[in-house]
Amino acid sequence: MKILLIYLSVLVGCLGLAVLASKSFTTTPCWCWSRDQGMVVKPKPHPVSNEYVSYGSYGSESDWSNPERIIPLDYDQAQGKRIFYQQCVWCHADTTPAGPSNRSNVTPAPPLMNDGAVLNGESDASLQKIIALGGSAVGKSAMMPPYGTSLTQDEINDLIAYMRVIAVPEYHRPSGKVNGTWRSKPS
Ligand code: HEC
Repeated sequence: MKILLIYLSVLVGCLGLAVLASKSFTTTPCWCWSRDQGMVVKPKPHPVSNEYVSYGSYGSESDWSNPERIIPLDYDQAQGKRIFYQQCVWCHADTTPAGPSNRSNVTPAPPLMNDGAVLNGESDASLQKIIALGGSAVGKSAMMPPYGTSLTQDEINDLIAYMRVIAVPEYHRPSGKVNGTWRSKPS
């Protein structure tokens, strides 16, 4: 009987302490910490990161001349980026987020692939032509190789979509067509 009483009083005491503690926690988190160190749940900071911007899209590229600016890419542009870094980066970039290139050794100097001052003036059709047939076919340097047999038309359109979206100054499409090209997506 005595044991039971002791047991009950310890139980009640514990419960009382727990209630007391929980009450005081809602007012002050802890006796020795300031409020903002304790249990206060603060909203997490939401930095602009690659991951965040690319959410819901297919990837991103940072602006070559301003790495702070992250450009989200759609499907076609992301495909274009992949092909660019496989085929064109060696001649058409100095330093990109992906690394160095050989552009300084090429004569005539190939335009940077984000050089809107040069490329914005070209129509999609003429870009298609020089990429597919090479520089010599359009009266430019044969240092620009033809890709018409190694890349499909869709892949070349993807490259153009990529170069349009990274263009500095920004490229503004003359017509209302999405990406300026009608193309079939892989199913
Ligand atoms: C071996 C180096 C080299 C590679 C690789 C290369 N290019 Fe070129 N590209 C050149 C050179 C050089 C020129 C400049 C030709 C001229 O102005 O006479 C050029 C010009 C161009 C132009 C025309 C720009 C204008 O003046 O209107 C486009 C578009 C282009 N390249 C796209 C590409 C794409 C896309 C790829 C990858 C699939 C690629 N190039 C790969 C060397 C290269």
